Amino acid sequence: MSEPSIDVVPISGPPGVARWQAVAEPDAVAGTAALWPVPALRPDVPELSLYVGPQWRRRGIGSRLLTAVREQATEPLLLADVVVDSPGEAFCRWHGFRHTRSRRRHLLTYCDVHQAWLGELVDAEHPGYRLTHWTGDLPGSPHVEELLRSPSGPGNTVLTAAEAGGDLAAYSVAVVGVLAARRARQYGPAVLPGHRGRRLGRWVSAALIQRLREVHPDVTEIEAATAEDDAGLLATRAHLGFRLVRSTRLYELTLP
Ligand SMILES: CC(C)(COP(=O)(O)OP(=O)(O)OC[C@H]1O[C@@H](n2cnc3c(N)ncnc32)[C@H](O)[C@@H]1OP(=O)(O)O)[C@@H](O)C(=O)NCCC(=O)NCCS
Repeated sequence: MSEPSIDVVPISGPPGVARWQAVAEPDAVAGTAALWPVPALRPDVPELSLYVGPQWRRRGIGSRLLTAVREQATEPLLLADVVVDSPGEAFCRWHGFRHTRSRRRHLLTYCDVHQAWLGELVDAEHPGYRLTHWTGDLPGSPHVEELLRSPSGPGNTVLTAAEAGGDLAAYSVAVVGVLAARRARQYGPAVLPGHRGRRLGRWVSAALIQRLREVHPDVTEIEAATAEDDAGLLATRAHLGFRLVRSTRLYELTLP
C-alpha cells in the first residue's frame, strides 16, 4: 500500500499562538504544532508544542511540522518542555535541541481547591504591597509592566501582580486554552530582587488562581512547570494543592 500524502498547513489559533496541522488524505489530522510566547518570563523566546498521532510516528511528520515552525519563527531561540525519556526527547536531541533544565510538571484541579481557604490566603495582609490584575489576549511579546499599564479586556490571559509604591514586586500569568480548552497554563510566579522572602510568590499565585476562576469559570485545571532545583517554588505549588504529574526536561533550539 502506498503512503498517504501529507500536507503541513497553517491553521488559526488562539491570539498570539501560531499553529499548524499535518493533514493526511483524505481528511485525517496526523499531527499538530503550536508556537506561543511565554508570557512575561521570557517574552522573546516562544515555546513549541508538537504532537503526532501514534499511528503516524517515525515517518518524518514531526520533522516536517518542525520545519514549518522554523520557517515562520522570527526569534533566535525556541523552547520545548518534553517528558523525560519520551519519544519527544529523542526527537529533540535528533534535531539539535540543547537540554537546559530539568523540571516538574504539576496540575491543580479546581474541585480540589477550598475556596474559603484560598480567599484567606489572598486577603492576608502584605504591608506595603497591593495586588493588581490585568486580563486580555496573549500579546505577541508580552512584557509585564506594559501589560499592567494597558487597559484590561476580555481575553485568554490573566496576569496578577503585587506592587509596592507603584513598582512591580511579583507577578504570575495564566493563559487559557493553548493546549486544551478547559486547561490554563500558569507561568511564574516571579518575585523581583529586593522583594523576596515575603511570601509574595504564594500570594500572587493564590490571587491568580482565584482571579482566573472568576474570569474563566469554565477552566477546570491549571498546569504549571517548575525547575526541579527550585525548592521554594515546589513548596509553594504543594501548599496551593498542585500535584505532581510528571518530570520533564526543558530543551532550547537555536535558530539561524
Ligand atoms: C516527538 C514526536 C512529535 C515525533 O514525531 P515523529 O513524526 O515520529 O518524528 P519524526 O518521524 O520526524 O522523527 C525524526 C527523528 O526523531 C527521532 N525520533 C523520533 N521518535 C523517536 C523515538 N520514539 N525513539 C527514538 N528516536 C525517535 C529519530 O531520530 C527520528 O528519525 P528516524 O525515524 O529516521 O530514526 C511524536 O513522537 C509525538 O507526538 N510525541 C508526543 C508529544 C511530544 O513528546 N512532543 C515533544 C516535542 S515538543
